Amino acid sequence: MTRLRRANNIADLRLLARKRLPRPIFDYIDGGADDEVSLRRNVDAFSNYELVPDVLNDVSAIRTGTTLFGQLSRWPLMLAPTGLTRMFHGHSELAVARAAARHGILYSLSTMGTTRLEDLAQAFAGPKVFQIYIFKDRGLTAEFVARCRDAGFHGLALTVDTPVAGNRERDRRSGLSLPPKLTLKSLLSFARHPSWSLPALTGSKFDLANVSHKIDALASGPMSLFDYIGGQFDRSVGWRDVEWLAREWNGPLAIKGVMTPEDARRSIASGATGVMVSNHGGRQLDGAPAPIDQIAAVRDAVGDAPDVICDGGIRRGSDIVKALALGATACSIGRPYLYGLAAGGEAGVDRVLTLLTEEFERTMTLAGVNDIAALAPRHVRPNRA
Ligand code: FNR
Repeated sequence: MTRLRRANNIADLRLLARKRLPRPIFDYIDGGADDEVSLRRNVDAFSNYELVPDVLNDVSAIRTGTTLFGQLSRWPLMLAPTGLTRMFHGHSELAVARAAARHGILYSLSTMGTTRLEDLAQAFAGPKVFQIYIFKDRGLTAEFVARCRDAGFHGLALTVDTPVAGNRERDRRSGLSLPPKLTLKSLLSFARHPSWSLPALTGSKFDLANVSHKIDALASGPMSLFDYIGGQFDRSVGWRDVEWLAREWNGPLAIKGVMTPEDARRSIASGATGVMVSNHGGRQLDGAPAPIDQIAAVRDAVGDAPDVICDGGIRRGSDIVKALALGATACSIGRPYLYGLAAGGEAGVDRVLTLLTEEFERTMTLAGVNDIAALAPRHVRPNRA
């Protein structure tokens, strides 16, 4: 694992992932919607903020613990939900969750995950969130709520920025199909990437494990699970549905995909306990603002109590410091841990979390702030360049 140890930052791990994955699979992780403007801006926007340090403030110990979704987290960071994880590494969601547990942070499992939520809960005692959708079939959503409660999930994240799928042109160009098909082309790509395990993607080992019972129940002939779930996205979802879900769940609930102060306020008024300020990592509405640029206004709108999570573009520990200074409770990451997973399985995710937490703690120390609770707007300033 010297390769992993030699990776100095997330950018290095991204390059390792690019080497190890067939190009269409790497592009599925790495890409965004349309011209990828939001994808780039999510990352670039962080450099528009300067860090303004305090000095002589006893930084011999840095307090980083916080509460998220009502659970203790050792760092103000959590792992965002990402679908189809087994496509990137045979170790799947379980490896990611194990790494999260070792670092004392929250893991979120996607509805589109390739591990059953019950299996994840059994293997992973740490704090966990399930990412849910309000489907056309509200019964399916209610079923998820009941399953999450029975399995001991601590929170739900309701994704609201996918009324339709974003236009991912890299995937169109590469001809990526979901699940990947065993064709001559994919076999060749497998031969070139022996560390990536195509057999794990085919047959019973690769499916949308949380909804696979549905397709049997439907007995719908040639319809695939992916067709079925694609047909479940509901453009008519509104605030009443959020109120319904909040009542059904009656626990920590964040609305994922909120971008404005008004919608953040409405989320809390509808029964949510937090918001994930997110443009889905630039994979949905291209041109949407960068989450970091919305944090201050969102915090202002919802007051002190709700969780405000800055989701998207975090590639450095210093990005987390900036987000917290602007008012975020914590940040979440998607691609960074997937790069790590693809680069080296569980050890790769571990490397990502070690790098980010080291960077985070070093930045806090250099900024002269010994407690995340003391981070304030005065510690950041728009870049004047
Ligand atoms: C995602 N994301 C996502 N979000 C969600 O609510 N449900 C999902 O199933 C997925 N799946 C998914 C797959 C892949 C490959 C990526 C890269 C992202 C979005 C994710 O939760 C998060 O919002 C972004 O990844 C955050 O941006 P960064 O950290 O990737 O810049």
